[in-house]
Amino acid sequence: MQFRAASASRLHGVALEFHMSVTQLRTSAASAPTGRITSDSFLQKKHARQPITALTAYDYPTARLVDEAGIDMVLVGDSLGMVVLGYENTLPVTMDEMLHHTRAVARAVRRAFLVADMPYGSYHASSRDAVRNAVRLIKEAGAQAVKIEGGSSRARLVQRLTDAEIPVVGHIGLTPQSVHSMGGYHVQGRSLEAFDRLLADARALEDAGAIAIVLEGIPRELAATITAQSGVPTIGIGAGPECDGQILVFHDLFNLTYSPTAKFSHQYADGAAFFAGALAQYRDDVATHRFPSDAESYHLPRRVMAELEAAQPRARKA
Ligand code: KIV
Repeated sequence: MQFRAASASRLHGVALEFHMSVTQLRTSAASAPTGRITSDSFLQKKHARQPITALTAYDYPTARLVDEAGIDMVLVGDSLGMVVLGYENTLPVTMDEMLHHTRAVARAVRRAFLVADMPYGSYHASSRDAVRNAVRLIKEAGAQAVKIEGGSSRARLVQRLTDAEIPVVGHIGLTPQSVHSMGGYHVQGRSLEAFDRLLADARALEDAGAIAIVLEGIPRELAATITAQSGVPTIGIGAGPECDGQILVFHDLFNLTYSPTAKFSHQYADGAAFFAGALAQYRDDVATHRFPSDAESYHLPRRVMAELEAAQPRARKA
């Protein structure tokens, strides 16, 4: 990328990107990418002790709601396998499914930082595969970063992805893609050995270049220690209030998961009851001819009605 020949004085006080020889396609204030959250915004928030807000989204309308609510990070989590696609766990989620949903979310998000999960199997066989799949999420689907599960054992891969200009969010503690090796979904890091291991995992991810680390299902005390020692922001889910930010699954907030809520989750509204009430009303309105009404119907123009009546007087009277 080349800079336009500009004197230092002309550069002074003007955003650098306006001096780069890159065509600025978006000119209107509404669509300009100013004010978009970046990984630097997360660091600034960590240093200012301002909590980072994060939430999952999997489709256009909910992603718009989340983005327009001012949430900082939108994650297209592989939890979509469970809450949207009805799988038993996250393991069956494919790259094609992640690409499909990430594209829909990317079309909606204007301000938030968009992260896409790398699904199980997409980064396990080789780092070559991993880079190729991560590039697809960025290049074809519009994610700004990818998230992978695992600690020290993933450090080399995080480094490799980072070297390929792919920002990586780490994810340690209760990592749902390890459900079989963990023997279920259990809080992690409760023994001293596990505490030390997770601390080392966080350090390894930071050293490898991770831009943030999700801490899931670990004791509050451990999350607080990792957060205090880490140079990169921590985003907690079931990891207590001392994390630099918090993330939840969209469907948990709105009682849309058809399963009991985890202790760490918080239901902010009863979406299931809201939808069920409206659906029952729609069903009854149709069944009792209340919907659609005349006001909800289209009509022929008067002139055409008159022509129709003149042409078919008998048929219309019958
Ligand atoms: O897939 C997901 O939604 C996640 C969050 C729970 C962090 O990984």
